[in-house]
Amino acid sequence: MTRKTSAFAPVGAFPLHGEAARAAAGARLAVLSADLPTDLTARVLDGDDAEQLHAFRLSIVARLDDPDHYRMAGEVGNFVADHLGDKGLTAGIFRKDRMIAYGALGLPGPDDPNRGRDLGLPEGELPLVAHMSSAMVESAERGRGLHHRLIGWRLEVAHTLGRPHLLTTVSPRNHRSWGHLANHGLHPRRLLQVGGDLVRLLVHRDARVDPALDTTTAALVPVETLASRWDVFDRGGRVWARLSAGGEGPDQRWFALCGRER
Ligand SMILES: CC(C)(COP(=O)(O)OP(=O)(O)OC[C@H]1O[C@@H](n2cnc3c(N)ncnc32)[C@H](O)[C@@H]1OP(=O)(O)O)[C@@H](O)C(=O)NCCC(=O)NCCS
Repeated sequence: MTRKTSAFAPVGAFPLHGEAARAAAGARLAVLSADLPTDLTARVLDGDDAEQLHAFRLSIVARLDDPDHYRMAGEVGNFVADHLGDKGLTAGIFRKDRMIAYGALGLPGPDDPNRGRDLGLPEGELPLVAHMSSAMVESAERGRGLHHRLIGWRLEVAHTLGRPHLLTTVSPRNHRSWGHLANHGLHPRRLLQVGGDLVRLLVHRDARVDPALDTTTAALVPVETLASRWDVFDRGGRVWARLSAGGEGPDQRWFALCGRER
């Protein structure tokens, strides 16, 4: 059974928009900055950062380990403009003036595409949706916990803005990315066909509830087969975590821990 938690207690009038939302996002920067390596700083981006954000994203996408890990073709609208204005908020991490990471949170309005529809949320819940749109970290800076911090900041901001439903789509092959999201309670819940031929996991967390795995239904699915395992989700299952076996190195294998909710 899903346990309702009391952790969700949004502050102020909501949903917050515009400058009020930016101020709330800025006030949550402590989540990102606490114990940040001393050579780095974090701030909420604004319109003046558009060019640098655009160039940074292009440079990361050009060097992905696997081009399927992030496809700009799967984006809707103007990503940069939409995440620096009323439709979204972005935090950037910098070394001096150079961007080395960002995390973007989408705040869909009534007329915008809303991933809540893909999950079948009732219309009344759609204003409570925030999108964990994207996060990228420069290769040389990976493995320092920056992605985890950027996820944590976006969860805090969504909470403050009164949006408990967090959703996004991720490549099933990008198991590092969805594994990190699952660590923060954003579980792959569906497979979707998007932008024609792309298969994506739809990940979701409702911050008002704290679901638990029914261990009698638990199964380990090799991550490389997840994109074809529609049956896992059709049966009401979800992915709870990414697990590894075989130690580090060439023998290491990765699995999705799947199963239904208790
Ligand atoms: C996916 C991506 C964002 C991960 O970024 P990252 O900053 O290396 O991620 P983190 O450092 O937070 O986590 C990496 C590992 O470092 C570990 N780590 C090291 N220091 C840590 C700290 N201080 N706090 C938390 N975790 C830490 C984590 O446990 C994690 O281990 P795991 O992968 O086994 O869970 C990055 O690889 C990337 O930009 N990829 C290309 C773009 C992309 O695919 N983006 C995602 C889709 S939009």
